[in-house]
Amino acid sequence: MKIAIVTGASSGLGRAFVRQLDREGGLDEIWGVARRAGRMEELAAELNTPMRALALDLVKPESIEALKDRMEEEQPDVRVLINAAGFGKFGTYADMTLPETSDMIDLNCKAAANLTAAVIPHMGRGGRVLEICSSASFQPLPGFNVYAATKAFLLHYSRALRWEVAPRGICVTAVCPGWIKTEFMKVARDTANGRTVRHYPFALRPETVASRALRDNRLGMAVTTCSLPSLVQRTASKFLPHCFIMACWEGLRRI
Ligand SMILES: NC(=O)c1ccc[n+]([C@@H]2O[C@H](COP(=O)([O-])OP(=O)(O)OC[C@H]3O[C@@H](n4cnc5c(N)ncnc54)[C@H](OP(=O)(O)O)[C@@H]3O)[C@@H](O)[C@H]2O)c1
Repeated sequence: MKIAIVTGASSGLGRAFVRQLDREGGLDEIWGVARRAGRMEELAAELNTPMRALALDLVKPESIEALKDRMEEEQPDVRVLINAAGFGKFGTYADMTLPETSDMIDLNCKAAANLTAAVIPHMGRGGRVLEICSSASFQPLPGFNVYAATKAFLLHYSRALRWEVAPRGICVTAVCPGWIKTEFMKVARDTANGRTVRHYPFALRPETVASRALRDNRLGMAVTTCSLPSLVQRTASKFLPHCFIMACWEGLRRI
C-alpha cells in the first residue's frame, strides 16, 4: 500500500499539501496527523484519495510510538513524508510560559526528528521527505527566539539527514518559506506579548508554498525557500553578519 504521511494536516500548509498530493494521484492512502480529527475528516471528504485522520498530539512521545506500531502492523510503502506540524509563539524569553517553550521545542524538533526516524525504515527508493522549516531558521530572531532556534535545528537535521539517506534513494528537502497566510499567526500572537511581531510582508498562500515545495523536492533540491524574498534572506544570512540582520529585523518588526 503506497501512502503519504502528512503531519499538520488539519490546517494551513499541511492541508494544502494533502490536497496537492491528492491531485497528483498515485497513492493508495494519505495518513493525516494532527490533534483535530474533525478538521481532517472534513478534508478527507473532499479528496479522491482515501485519507485516514490520525488524531495524535505529537508533543506526546506515545503518539510517535502509536504511529510506529501502526506502520509495523500494516507495513505501508511510505512514498512521501511531510512534517508540517509546528507552531511558533511571538515574544521574548521572558514572555514565554514554560509549556509554550517546551512544547515548541518538543513539536518542532523532537517530534519531527523522532517521526522521521520512525518513518524512514518504511520508505524505499524514490521516497520523498519534506521537513517544513522556515526562513526563520537562517538567523537568530529576537522576539521570535525559540521558534527561530527550533527551525534552525530542523534545517540542520534535514540537511544532514539528506546525506544519510541518499544512498537509499530517498530525497530530503528542507522547506524554508517566509510568512504564509494560515492560522500560524493567530496561534503565535496568543501569548503574553503577541504584539512583538506586527507585520507579515510578502505572505504567500499555503497552496503556492505546497506546490513549489513539492516541485523543488522532485527536482532534488536540498533546501527551498519557495519565494524570492526568502531566497534573498537566505543569501543575505550567508554573507552578512547575523547581528546586522538581527538589527534590521528589530527595526522592521516594530513598524
Ligand atoms: N505560516 C507561516 O508564516 C509559516 C512560515 C514558515 C514556516 N511555517 C511552518 O509551516 C508549518 C505549518 O504551519 P501553518 O502555517 O500551516 O500553521 P497552522 O495553520 O497553525 O497549522 C499548524 C498545524 O500543526 C498542527 N499541530 C500543532 N500542534 C500540534 C501537536 N501538538 N500535535 C500534532 N499536530 C499539531 C495543527 O493541528 P492541530 O491544531 O489540529 O493539532 C495544524 O495542523 C509549521 O511547521 C510552521 O512552523 C509557517
